[in-house]
Amino acid sequence: MELSTIRSYNVLRIIGILILLSSSPFVFAYIECSTVSQLFSSCSVFINYGTPDPSPGSRCCDAMSGLSIIANSGGGNKQSVCRCVMSLIQNYIQNATAIGTLPGLCGISLGFTIIPNSNCLVYD
Ligand SMILES: *[C@@H]1O[C@H](CO)[C@@H](O)[C@H](O)[C@H]1NC(C)=O
Repeated sequence: MELSTIRSYNVLRIIGILILLSSSPFVFAYIECSTVSQLFSSCSVFINYGTPDPSPGSRCCDAMSGLSIIANSGGGNKQSVCRCVMSLIQNYIQNATAIGTLPGLCGISLGFTIIPNSNCLVYD
């Protein structure tokens, strides 16, 4: 192959990749479970003591709203977030019920129900 042919091939490939990237919806490259646990840590008082109920606008609910935006932004994020939440509640299994009530109290939807051992078969 001539050098110029190889060059134009590479240019075409790069253009192809750019088109692919720009046509996909806004996607967080990878959901770190540490991000998810950090967001839940804003709710640690409620998670540990069951009171006071977090209300929309509180620090805890702001974190849950952020989580819901990430979960509902497509690109398989819901499933990733769900998996992170599932491993999180394994560590706080005695507090799983409290964790499960958070979206409702905050008036947000993660698009999946927080129940222990969910298989996270949720689709965007
Ligand atoms: C959270 O778990 C601890 C034990 O690890 C328990 O003492 C506490 O009552 C639980 N809180 C709630 C709200 O379920």
